[in-house]
Amino acid sequence: MKVLITAGPTREPLDPVRYLTNRSSGKMGYALAAAFADAGHHVLLVSGPTDIDIPPGIDFVPVETASEMHDAVRRHLFRMDAAIFAAAVADYRPATVAGEKIKKSGEELVLKLVRNPDILGEARDKMNFEGILVGFAAETENLEANARDKLKRKRCDLIVANDVSKPGIGFDSDRNELLLVFPEHTAALPEDEKHHLARHLVKEVELLAATRSGAFQAP
Ligand code: CTP
Repeated sequence: MKVLITAGPTREPLDPVRYLTNRSSGKMGYALAAAFADAGHHVLLVSGPTDIDIPPGIDFVPVETASEMHDAVRRHLFRMDAAIFAAAVADYRPATVAGEKIKKSGEELVLKLVRNPDILGEARDKMNFEGILVGFAAETENLEANARDKLKRKRCDLIVANDVSKPGIGFDSDRNELLLVFPEHTAALPEDEKHHLARHLVKEVELLAATRSGAFQAP
């Protein structure tokens, strides 16, 4: 299969020395890229800035902003069999980017933010993607209900949900605990290393692709 994976945070510049970003190490997305490549699939990793080494044997598109990630996904999605959106994309960006460093003045500074494109949300409708579509949901409450709602709204085949309020897993950790929300059922993956969870997710996506096509799709 040809698999596109988004990973890491995006950075939305405010001026030449400052940006807004999301908390994300990129570890889950990179673990997925490595696991798909190890299983013999062709991987295109579209990644915001992270400290992680690029896994060997994959195609890599580095991006900074949500708009750049959006452009990269729009360019490549049409030729993919599966797409996994693990990136923590900033939902908003500063309305204007100052050309020079913003100097302090006054006691308050009000920032105006504007919406970024919802890349996952556009995959089916605007980008006409018909392959296996997997989204992530980082939630602090009502994990399953919020994930199921996202699954329907964004017409995904699977939402990988995790509770980011649980201490010791998620964000900067090498470990995570996941809830896999499919249209017809839900499966819990107990706490494990992100690399092991990634291997499990590869199998789930292979199964979804096989079910979709009526036969197993070779790498
Ligand atoms: N995502 C994306 N583009 C965005 C924002 C999110 O592709 N601009 C993807 C993420 O990579 C992840 C999923 O969408 O796969 C997360 O969705 P989220 O923004 O949490 O979804 P919403 O349903 O819009 O949720 P919320 O109302 O909580 O913002």
